[in-house]
Amino acid sequence: MGTPAESMPDRRTLESAVALACRAPSLHNSQPWRWILGAHALTLYCDNDRILPATDPSGRQMVLSCGTALHHLRTALAAQRWSSEIERMPRSPDRQCLATLRFRRLDESSDTGSSDTEPSDTGVRLAAAIARRRTERLPMAAPPELPSTVTLLQELAEHAGARLDVIGEDERAALDDMSRRISGKRRADSGYLSELNWWTGHAIFPEGVPAETLPAAGSAVAIEREFPPGRATSETAGEVDHAAILLLSTATDLRLDWLRCGEALSVVLLTCTDRGLATCPVTHLTESEDSRAFLRGLTGDGVPQVLIRVGIRTSPASETPTPRRPLSEVLFREHPEADSR
Ligand SMILES: Cc1cc2nc3c(=O)[nH]c(=O)nc-3n(C[C@H](O)[C@H](O)[C@H](O)COP(=O)(O)O)c2cc1C
Repeated sequence: MGTPAESMPDRRTLESAVALACRAPSLHNSQPWRWILGAHALTLYCDNDRILPATDPSGRQMVLSCGTALHHLRTALAAQRWSSEIERMPRSPDRQCLATLRFRRLDESSDTGSSDTEPSDTGVRLAAAIARRRTERLPMAAPPELPSTVTLLQELAEHAGARLDVIGEDERAALDDMSRRISGKRRADSGYLSELNWWTGHAIFPEGVPAETLPAAGSAVAIEREFPPGRATSETAGEVDHAAILLLSTATDLRLDWLRCGEALSVVLLTCTDRGLATCPVTHLTESEDSRAFLRGLTGDGVPQVLIRVGIRTSPASETPTPRRPLSEVLFREHPEADSR
């Protein structure tokens, strides 16, 4: 174990990694994370003030969103030649504490004598994908070479602690029907609607989902969550969605599963982005027991957590990414000495 100077990235490296980690996707762009930097470790907390009680009463998607940020952070640091050891759900009196990260410089000689002195090409490419990734809600063309991509994504998801299935084309109509049913029910749920309207369609705050990224009336995809109409339009009118539909599930439904599933979601999204594929997480179908049971019936096993549409974007991606909160609102220092570094 080295001194703090050897086992902690410097302040600039850490700040730029946390800034990249905060590019992670989150439910309605709620960004429900807080990072506390200590002398020897960085700790990730969820921010219960940013829970969406009507949409996500258990905080499942809040923890899942934090899991995506955790994997983004690890990816960003690995590309800077820092490996991170993660303790998930560490013992803490604070229930919002999700993970503690400790670091090791990749070019330090390790006890194991391993020669991991350089980040892998894949690691560097995944880190580069962070800034390019966007949630794409318009119809997509079918992804090429789906079987080989799925085999890779299944391995990555399993390694991260989740299971990945492809929902077959035959099930698509039933899935669309279930999505319409859930959307119909939600239209009568005033708590859900006021939350949705609060978080979407505005551009005043660096959080929430801007209208530019939401489909205009008539451009939405049936399997998607129903959002208030936005300004994104398809270049081809009446375009049909040919995205592949993937499902991430977990063995059980505990907070640790949610965190790890978020990490799996991150690696899947970044790998797809790296391969030129557009992606969209879809979760309204995992927010009720009915629709979760329906999804479980399609794959036969596991607890459904997140659907992901994957395909080829048919309209150019927006140059302007969905905004994020400033670092000063999400990264805090535990010890003053960390400030001087
Ligand atoms: C747990 C979780 C649930 C999400 N659910 C949906 C969803 O149901 N529909 C959707 O269009 N996007 C969904 N998203 C994507 C977010 O809306 C998106 O990440 C956020 O608006 C930021 O935009 P960006 O991903 O383009 O950076 C979800 C993301 C996460 C992590």
